[in-house]
Amino acid sequence: ASTQHQPRGAFIVFEGADRAGKSTQCQMLVEHLQAAGVAAELWRFPDRTTAIGKMINSYLTSQAEIDDAAVHLLFSANRWEKREELLRKLRAGTTLVVDRYAYSGVAFTAAKGAPGLDRAWCMAPDAGLPAPDAIFFLNLTVEQAAARGGYGEERYEKADFQRKVLEQFQGMRDSSWRVIDASQSIEDIQQQLREQAGAVVARCQRGGEPIKQLWG
Ligand code: TMP
Ligand code: MG
Repeated sequence: ASTQHQPRGAFIVFEGADRAGKSTQCQMLVEHLQAAGVAAELWRFPDRTTAIGKMINSYLTSQAEIDDAAVHLLFSANRWEKREELLRKLRAGTTLVVDRYAYSGVAFTAAKGAPGLDRAWCMAPDAGLPAPDAIFFLNLTVEQAAARGGYGEERYEKADFQRKVLEQFQGMRDSSWRVIDASQSIEDIQQQLREQAGAVVARCQRGGEPIKQLWG
């Protein structure tokens, strides 16, 4: 068998609009996996710690203005610069629970409706990146999110824009996505995630699961 098909860590992505509870659930899931003896790490995109990530952070916090196309490519480059480390971790047996990935990249830029930046254009720069073994979509309406105390201060955290982001996610989603009703209690959501993610982790640990590529 090729090395690709050896036992490895699972690549699990969480997606959803802002305020859906992704960060809380990712954190809980990683702690649960670690407590169960699974090597697991929490990752997030954008990764604001790199040089590119710092530019993205300046943009999101409105300290910098960056052209829509250019910042889209920065978000993508921020994934590409982590690609080797991501693959190395998976092959070393570490499961990665990742808070946002290329799907957010496409949804947030396409939601701008800027001329030329349609979904196909938005998808192109991420083609060839490692594809996740599972995508959990935490589904929450803008109204439900607002009822939680509303959005924060960052650039995209506005109800009208979040509605467009949700439309983009809906248009992109296929049957392989695991849609979770994010209006449930934190504990109920976590319970479902543990069951489903546990099965994915076990499958990857058994081996025979190649790491696929976007947009396969
Ligand atoms: P965060 O709140 O998860 O740190 O994400 C910051 C914002 O960046 C969030 O509004 C979603 C947005 N985003 C993009 O616009 N493109 C991307 O590729 C990613 C990963 C996030
Ligand atoms: Mg945020």
